[in-house]
Amino acid sequence: MAAPTIRSALPGDETTWRQLWRGYCEFYDAQLSDEVTNRTWQRILDPDSAVMCIVAEVDGQVYGFANCVVHENTWETQPVCYMEDLYVAPAARGHGIGAALIEWLRNAMRAEGWARLYWMTREDNVQARKLYDRFSKADGFVRYQLRQR
Ligand SMILES: CC(C)(COP(=O)(O)OP(=O)(O)OC[C@H]1O[C@@H](n2cnc3c(N)ncnc32)[C@H](O)[C@@H]1OP(=O)(O)O)[C@@H](O)C(=O)NCCC(=O)NCCS
Repeated sequence: MAAPTIRSALPGDETTWRQLWRGYCEFYDAQLSDEVTNRTWQRILDPDSAVMCIVAEVDGQVYGFANCVVHENTWETQPVCYMEDLYVAPAARGHGIGAALIEWLRNAMRAEGWARLYWMTREDNVQARKLYDRFSKADGFVRYQLRQR
């Protein structure tokens, strides 16, 4: 497989992004409503939203994406970038697409002046952690959350 081209998601990526998003939700056994998916896609295309999405394309076909949120924080004077979702189609894994998406974000961090790029994963997500360990050491923080419903 040729090296992927990484770029921002465009309106024409909607069908493929939705297919990949479905795969990602299934991977996490998550049943997200259409309302959430529609809103996420809408925000991805909205230049005024803090949500952004990059896709990985090989020979005109999109095989993976990363959804991110750029936000203010109290520990830095500059914004930081949270990579919320990362997904590569199963048949395209192991060819460096995941690494290329993260590498693109690392370059964007420098270009945009984000103080940090960070992300989380499940402790037992062995495949993802194998990739992540090449970029950084896990920092040992544990997530807690409360839900409205
Ligand atoms: C995690 C994920 C994004 C990695 O994408 P990818 O394009 O396979 O990533 P890369 O090819 O850059 O690196 C994958 C690592 O697994 C290895 N690998 C080898 N064969 C593989 C295969 N068939 N499938 C997956 N990974 C494979 C790669 O060699 C590489 O490790 P190494 O370079 O240390 O040897 C992808 O596996 C995925 O979408 N998983 C399901 C969703 C998920 O876990 N997302 C992250 C949530 S936080």
